[in-house]
Amino acid sequence: MHDPTRPAPWTMDRRELDKVALYAELAAELQALLADEPDPVANAANAAAAIYHALPDLNWAGFYMLRGNELVLGPFQGRPACVRILLGAGVCGTAAAERRSIVVPDVAAFPGHIACDTASRSELVVPLLAGDALLGVLDLDSPLLARFDAVDRAGCETLARMIAPKL
Ligand code: SME
Repeated sequence: MHDPTRPAPWTMDRRELDKVALYAELAAELQALLADEPDPVANAANAAAAIYHALPDLNWAGFYMLRGNELVLGPFQGRPACVRILLGAGVCGTAAAERRSIVVPDVAAFPGHIACDTASRSELVVPLLAGDALLGVLDLDSPLLARFDAVDRAGCETLARMIAPKL
């Protein structure tokens, strides 16, 4: 049966299908990158680099890891970013606290958005979970408004499920 949390191929246009294919390729690439390596920092670093270079129109891609009651900056690609984010703060802290993915079409319209790079206009944050336990978040920023849609959300949730056990 079709998973209702994922976009259905029969409702997508060509561009969306291309995007689905891109996420499938990226997932295969990540699978290969992470398969034989147990080191969490190496895995997060390669995952951030693979995502940043595979997906178009990003200015930041990386990880915040849960340390106590705050998120601490992990491996990433992009400009230097804020190091610590309290649970519940900003897009990352909200996604972490609520353990759900958040797509922000316009960061200026998100109350409490934390502007690490003023070039960022839209954002996607996906929690990294091990069962019920929160490990951190995967954060993608774009210089384009409304860069992320349901295909990106589903694609990044799949990537997060692959990455989480390797962190
Ligand atoms: N914008 C995020 C902060 C992290 S940076 O985008 C890398 C937020 O509001 O949580």
